[in-house]
Amino acid sequence: MNIAIIPGDGIGREVTAEAVKVLRTVQERFGKTLAFETLPWSADHFLQSGITIPANGYDLLRSFDAVFVGALGDPRVPDNRHARDILLGTRFELDLYVNYRPVRLLDERLCPLKGRGPADVNFAVFRENTEGLYVGVGGRFKAGTEDEVAIQEELNTYKGVHRIIRHAFEFARARGLTKVCMADKSNAMTHGHALWQRVFKEVASGYPEIHPTHYYIDALAMYMVLDPGQFQVIVTNNLFGDIITDLGATFQGGLGMAASGNIHPGRTSLFEPVHGSAPKFAGRNVANPIGAIASAALMLETLGWTEESAAIDAAILQTVKDRNVTQDIGGSLGTAQAGDAIRAALLG
Ligand SMILES: NC(=O)c1ccc[n+]([C@@H]2O[C@H](COP(=O)([O-])OP(=O)(O)OC[C@H]3O[C@@H](n4cnc5c(N)ncnc54)[C@H](O)[C@@H]3O)[C@@H](O)[C@H]2O)c1
Repeated sequence: MNIAIIPGDGIGREVTAEAVKVLRTVQERFGKTLAFETLPWSADHFLQSGITIPANGYDLLRSFDAVFVGALGDPRVPDNRHARDILLGTRFELDLYVNYRPVRLLDERLCPLKGRGPADVNFAVFRENTEGLYVGVGGRFKAGTEDEVAIQEELNTYKGVHRIIRHAFEFARARGLTKVCMADKSNAMTHGHALWQRVFKEVASGYPEIHPTHYYIDALAMYMVLDPGQFQVIVTNNLFGDIITDLGATFQGGLGMAASGNIHPGRTSLFEPVHGSAPKFAGRNVANPIGAIASAALMLETLGWTEESAAIDAAILQTVKDRNVTQDIGGSLGTAQAGDAIRAALLG
């Protein structure tokens, strides 16, 4: 397998280093081969060269089996142009329409919800990843004046809504799950989200063994806190999925714990921790590498290396149980040491 590595900015570099070390340990333990190519695309690279992503950049990414990204975002690039081209651009250009974000609590002590344990917090969020409010359609008129008008339009297509909802049902079916919940705001966003309503009912009718439920997104946020155990699979649009998975990450112990995949089934896909570049932590060896390492596990699972992926997840779980972890989740280790603990657990 050939993997492109984009460490990116801030703590992205530190957590990526740990994820790559863990992947090398997987090779050692399982005797399989992964080849890594590190790409320098980042804020530093942009500031030095003026290039966010080279002209052939997306084609280059397509030539790999998978892409791993640390995080992108730097205060020296206030408009985040490089992150938009590298991350959002790749999502759009490689048509990575599934944003898969598992919300899985590993240890009760990490959950801020009173009395909730791993059995209550274990669901998958599927966020539509190529449409919605993130397409950048809109504009500003009379910008910077008191007459300014700013328009940002949300794009919903039948194809886009259909394929993410179908993916959520297929995921549930493949795992023997019985519930899929769709969240929208169709009571207020009566055009775009009427499409979500229609397609959800249409797709659900093809999965009689799965119970379809629906919440408006505001109610979903409330029920995630009050009764997370009712959820198995949640499917929603780009913006709402972005927001509720940060909420989900807090159930897991914080942003440092959450993993994600940007997937087009059967094609080159991109894996990254949910968190950003956390500039205040950059270079301090304090960032939690678990979100990145769990994203590497998700990458292997998606590539069909299920045994290797499960071994990484088991190693992460063991270090969490043993409290061989970073400070944000109650340990005392640095980023590199927490990564080393996971590698040691992986080698048994
Ligand atoms: N996918 C991405 O690359 C991505 C995602 C979100 C934000 N960003 C970018 O990152 C930059 C910072 O954004 P932000 O501060 O809103 O979000 P952030 O996720 O970088 O950090 C928010 C806070 O979460 C905590 N945190 C995040 N990751 C952690 C980790 N691994 N270990 C321990 N604690 C962790 C820290 O307290 C941090 O201050 C911005 O430029 C933003 O655009 C990038």
